Amino acid sequence: MKTREIPSAGPWITAKEVRYVQDAVAHGWYQNWSGYLDRFEAAFAKWIGVRFALSTSSCTGALHIAARALDLKPGDEVIAPEATWIATVTSFCHLGARPVFVDVDPETWCLDPRAFERAITPRTKAVIPVDLYGTPSDKDAILRIAAEHGLAVIEDAAPGIGSRYHGRLCGSFGLAGVFSFQGAKPLATGEGGMLVTNDENFYDRCYYYWDHCRDKSEVLYNTDLGFKYKMSNVQAALGLAQLERVDEIIAKRRQIFFWYRERLGGIPGLRMNVEPEGCFCNYYVPTIILEGSFPLAARTLGQRLDAAGIRNRPFFRPLSKLPMFAPVTTPVADRLAETGLNLPCATLLTEDDVDYVSRFVRRELTGQS
Ligand SMILES: Cc1ncc(COP(=O)(O)O)c(C=O)c1O
Repeated sequence: MKTREIPSAGPWITAKEVRYVQDAVAHGWYQNWSGYLDRFEAAFAKWIGVRFALSTSSCTGALHIAARALDLKPGDEVIAPEATWIATVTSFCHLGARPVFVDVDPETWCLDPRAFERAITPRTKAVIPVDLYGTPSDKDAILRIAAEHGLAVIEDAAPGIGSRYHGRLCGSFGLAGVFSFQGAKPLATGEGGMLVTNDENFYDRCYYYWDHCRDKSEVLYNTDLGFKYKMSNVQAALGLAQLERVDEIIAKRRQIFFWYRERLGGIPGLRMNVEPEGCFCNYYVPTIILEGSFPLAARTLGQRLDAAGIRNRPFFRPLSKLPMFAPVTTPVADRLAETGLNLPCATLLTEDDVDYVSRFVRRELTGQS
């Protein structure tokens, strides 16, 4: 029997995006080479509510220049949640810093502020909270603790684009915030990222490392070893069109989550993403946690969905348990990795698609559709 293919992730592209990209390809050269880059960065900074935005070739690149701009030295420590994508810490590790992984909150799945505070040592230089699967991390507590200890906060808002904490957009709270426009994210440029900050000095330092440490007065005079993490004008055209549609894109992502919650939220022993008090979530990745006793584990459910053409992803593995790190005790993150499953979340999913996936999940878990 032919299976129905349900994509795990993917963007929502309209005629507007095609028009902007066509224009960039046809005319975005010579004196216009940076037209869309300038507009994208200015519009992004205005939307987030910060002074500076620097477009990058990926969020990983944005994290690398942020880490470099912090002047991290080998042996310095950065605190990060155990449950996230490895890109959160890779760049810091490449500079010789040591990632110190701490457990996450069982409800929000984001950095647990108490665990963060306990992990601080004299070598700690920064903390990198992550808005996991679109739920804002506890900004107030994290900023307060970081300020008390003189630590830099670099917000990994790759999954938190469009989510709000007490009205303010994620990514605007720390010394810097970083975003991803990789194809699975709500706003996509294929690959791409953005670094935002209100700190002019930090922006200047990031800018310097972003394009081979050029001297301001002479374009081919490099005064240190930097990186090349620039975005292209064509990608920026796509990004600008997506940004101009951000409200409808985020509203659709929320709608997809609500369709799932209506159908699966009532299953005893199953829980899903929460929207903490005072927060607005993009619900970027609808996730189920199988806490009750079910006839199959989350991973097996994922495999069965996949065999039926319903693409899905496991919950993030606990990072410290990967072979290159030393394991730390993080019972919450370990349990989430065992019991969690990310359901398909492509922006173009229809209610009928979500219904189809939900009926499959319900049947596997409860025997009833
Ligand atoms: C939490 C988190 N941080 C960073 C990244 C890196 O983003 P990029 O792929 O644009 O480098 C991702 C990508 O999925 C992510 O999920």
